Amino acid sequence: MKIFIDTANLDEIKEALSWGIVDGITTNPSLIKKAVDYFKGKGKEFSMESYIKELLAAAGRERPVSLEVIGNTEEEMYRQAKTLFEKFNGVAGNVVIKIPVNPETEEGGKNAFDGLKVIKALSDEGIPVNVTLIMTPVQALLAAKAGAKYVSPFAGRIDDYLRSSKKITFEKHDYFPAEGLVLGDEIVNDNGIVSGVDLVGSIRDIFNNYDFDTEILAASVRNARQVRELAEVGADVATIPFAVLKDMISHYKTREGMVKFANDTVPEYREIFE
Ligand code: G3P
Repeated sequence: MKIFIDTANLDEIKEALSWGIVDGITTNPSLIKKAVDYFKGKGKEFSMESYIKELLAAAGRERPVSLEVIGNTEEEMYRQAKTLFEKFNGVAGNVVIKIPVNPETEEGGKNAFDGLKVIKALSDEGIPVNVTLIMTPVQALLAAKAGAKYVSPFAGRIDDYLRSSKKITFEKHDYFPAEGLVLGDEIVNDNGIVSGVDLVGSIRDIFNNYDFDTEILAASVRNARQVRELAEVGADVATIPFAVLKDMISHYKTREGMVKFANDTVPEYREIFE
């Protein structure tokens, strides 16, 4: 499974890249806002265009970087996608355009299929597209049919939705059972989907059935255990926040083992390294 980092914060990106395990970067308008607030808070001069260029250069040619459009119509999203690609892909040839699977903000919007139209147009031109805000397996199926390079199912937000539908309170990084939450006789579900991991697993099954090349990029990842479960159901990529990446390396018994090895080291063995 590839690991992307889900942040626009250059300090986090540079540190995570130095670990040697990051295969790509995903951003969205909310992550860009967080990064801008962070850098402005440090009293630094800020230029959005230079910042994005620096981020793309840090990622380098081998690591795709998703940049998202902000429009709601076919015309706006297509124009913004071309602007992002033309302005920035020259830096390191690694720009992926993020398009919402459905840009409507109210049910029944006339623009419900505008995302798919743009995904198809860009993909036909050879521009790689990451389709975002995927909440159902059939949205992923439509995005794959439109030619998407990646689909991004939002695993954590589905878990949030399932808990909220039953008025269960939770903290953002709390674990949610992959096999679903049993309440009385019922498994809490959204049209049959019982968790974010289940959503990703269902998309995996569908893509395998039809040999789609579209990669499943599990997003909205909340904790290390969820990363494990996403890997178990066959996500091609997980895009992981910096704090969750840090959590993945940590275990009490590993630290305890380090202390024991240090305490047990005899001088004869230590001398070898001197
Ligand atoms: O990649 C999408 C991700 O950034 C959304 O995560 O935590 O806002 O649900 P979250």
